Amino acid sequence: MATPPYILGIESSCDDTSAAVICGTKILSNVIAGQKIHAEFGGVVPELASRAHQQNIIPVVDTALKRAGIDKKQLSAIACTNGPGLLGSLLVGSSFAKGLALSLNIPLIMVDHLQAHVLANFLDTEDNNPKPEFPFLCLTVSGGHTLLLMVYDYFKMEVLGRTIDDAAGEAFDKAAKILGLTYPGGPIIDKLAQQGDPNKFKFSIAKLPDLNFSFSGLKTSFLYFVRDRLTENPNFIEENINDLAASIQFHIVESLTIKMEKALKAHKCTNFALSGGVAANSELRKRMLELAKKHHLRVTIPPLALTTDNAAMIACYGYFKFLQKEFAELNTVPYSSV
Ligand code: KG4
Ligand code: ZN
Repeated sequence: MATPPYILGIESSCDDTSAAVICGTKILSNVIAGQKIHAEFGGVVPELASRAHQQNIIPVVDTALKRAGIDKKQLSAIACTNGPGLLGSLLVGSSFAKGLALSLNIPLIMVDHLQAHVLANFLDTEDNNPKPEFPFLCLTVSGGHTLLLMVYDYFKMEVLGRTIDDAAGEAFDKAAKILGLTYPGGPIIDKLAQQGDPNKFKFSIAKLPDLNFSFSGLKTSFLYFVRDRLTENPNFIEENINDLAASIQFHIVESLTIKMEKALKAHKCTNFALSGGVAANSELRKRMLELAKKHHLRVTIPPLALTTDNAAMIACYGYFKFLQKEFAELNTVPYSSV
């Protein structure tokens, strides 16, 4: 059997510069350079992000090739994120990918970041995670998006529900900011919540009749609650930080779980999956496993490193496009939103 193609993936849609080499669906390397500079500003600063990508892109790609143990001349194609994301950031990765593809005379593949998050579920894992079977439902939860998708094949995905305001990751990050935690706050809330009581404080959860999500009301009720308590006791946050983290995490995850269960009842399928940065959340992973057990369905959850932004998922999308010989022209331009 012929060796599967070597694909180089490049991701630069937000604040992580990442490059990965895969062979078929096997990951040979997956290098991620984060950008600490945004923490002091409480969110990603687009101009600083694109400058940092410019500094990182060459060493990150170089390291990915070295770790994979291959020469760039062995690559069959280059896949890069074309959107959605920050335009300045996308331009750095896609311009670099175009230049390299042109110089190596190999095909260029443009990748949709959100679909790539879903396809992260098809990469080989160390513990040989079973891969999803089509059609399946996928909850895609990141810093910029919250989508409930019906996935018919690698590229055919139907949106059944989406957030009407904040994304789930944004809800985590905004709640963290209210608590005075640094950006991105999602992973910090997850960690603090391990020692907290999820039922200590109650907040209101949006009750939309369809499969759409809403987190802005929850954020506001959390904000007012914390603000009122602080007027009574200036040390309220410090004294209750673990319970506050556990309670807000419970409510965000509860909102997601309610809609996932509703979708599972309304749309027949044998399995479902999780993807996106918030899929790293330990409570959400636990609740999805419980849901699968309750409904006698199989759930696929990517390993932690493949949930948040990474280039292996971009290369994976590239691999399936490569099989279909769907290549991009050099004049393809990035897009910022869906
Ligand atoms: O997919 P991603 O890396 O980037 C986007 O495409 O947005 O997602 C980043 C988001 C951030 O909002 C971050 O706070 C959240 O994922 N996140 C988490 C956890 N790890 C990352 N949220 C909750 N718990 C986590 N463990
Ligand atoms: Zn993402």
